[in-house]
Amino acid sequence: MLFALSMLLSQLGQQAVEVSIHYSLERHSSVPFAEAGRKVLPAPCQAEVCTLELLVPEDMPAPIHVMYHLDPFYQNYPNYIQSGSRKGAWPQLTGKILSGDELRKHCPVTATRESAHGSFFPCGLQAGSFFNDTFKLRRAKDLKELFINESSVAREDDLKRMRNPPGYPNGEDMEWLFMRYPEVISLAEGVKNQRFAEWMRPSALPSVLKRIGQLDEPLSKGETILVEIGLRFPASTIDVEKELVLLSPSPIGGSSHALSRFLLYASASCWVLALIVLLCEKCCKRPLGHPRFERMRIAQDSESSESDGAV
Ligand SMILES: *[C@@H]1O[C@H](CO)[C@@H](O)[C@H](O)[C@H]1NC(C)=O
Ligand SMILES: *[C@@H]1O[C@H](CO)[C@@H](O)[C@H](O)[C@H]1NC(C)=O
Repeated sequence: MLFALSMLLSQLGQQAVEVSIHYSLERHSSVPFAEAGRKVLPAPCQAEVCTLELLVPEDMPAPIHVMYHLDPFYQNYPNYIQSGSRKGAWPQLTGKILSGDELRKHCPVTATRESAHGSFFPCGLQAGSFFNDTFKLRRAKDLKELFINESSVAREDDLKRMRNPPGYPNGEDMEWLFMRYPEVISLAEGVKNQRFAEWMRPSALPSVLKRIGQLDEPLSKGETILVEIGLRFPASTIDVEKELVLLSPSPIGGSSHALSRFLLYASASCWVLALIVLLCEKCCKRPLGHPRFERMRIAQDSESSESDGAV
């Protein structure tokens, strides 16, 4: 059963075309079985802006998801999650200005609340660790930039609850998002930026994979894409691996290698266990009523002899 499921997932997953560009010096993987089958192009970038050439290995039909992968990044750490919750920056995210004691209560750590230029809005660890590397893709043959459509990155309900506060962006001594992350978040968007809203939904696993947008045109096998990466997020200080992932999804989403391999191993171990049970059954079967262990038998014998004596 597990074996069949594993084969099915692997077959369906094979319809996905995934290309990962590993562009940091760090190298990690917190997900078991994930490595196999992934096309990783190692290309460490060190300059502030670096341009890589990517040879498209297979035809990739549209839409192509453009995603980033951080590993390990513990968005699931309790303090981190709390910094964006109702006890954290939530009131600010939904359009309320906090000040004084109230602000200190919601964002207790000074560094997540204030900078030399003013108060962060929104405050907290989550908003302060926003992933701000930028990506541009061009076709090498005519240098035409491929438009990355950001319109459906965040969930509708996340976007709906996000609101810039009244009077935005006129507060004094405020450091708004567009000042902190000027290359990614515009003044007009503020907290309603798609990438920001998606970032504020913490990932359940330390392997963070989030969308930046999608390409609405296909890429064909053998063509060269120029990938321009603006390195802003300080990954080496926290030892995080960074990857840019392009994915033409399959009917089940991604390529599901990790899951199908896990199921394959699980089914193999089930077979081994079944075999052991079968061997025990055939070779050294315990006769009905025979105690399982010698010690138990002796105890039982002495018990019965004692009770015999009493009679
Ligand atoms: C990018 O984001 C990191 C943390 O999220 C921050 O420390 C850094 O200053 C930002 N850089 C730019 C240029 O926005
Ligand atoms: C982006 O995608 C949405 C649907 O996902 C579409 O309605 C919109 O027209 C696209 N924007 C551009 C500029 O192509």
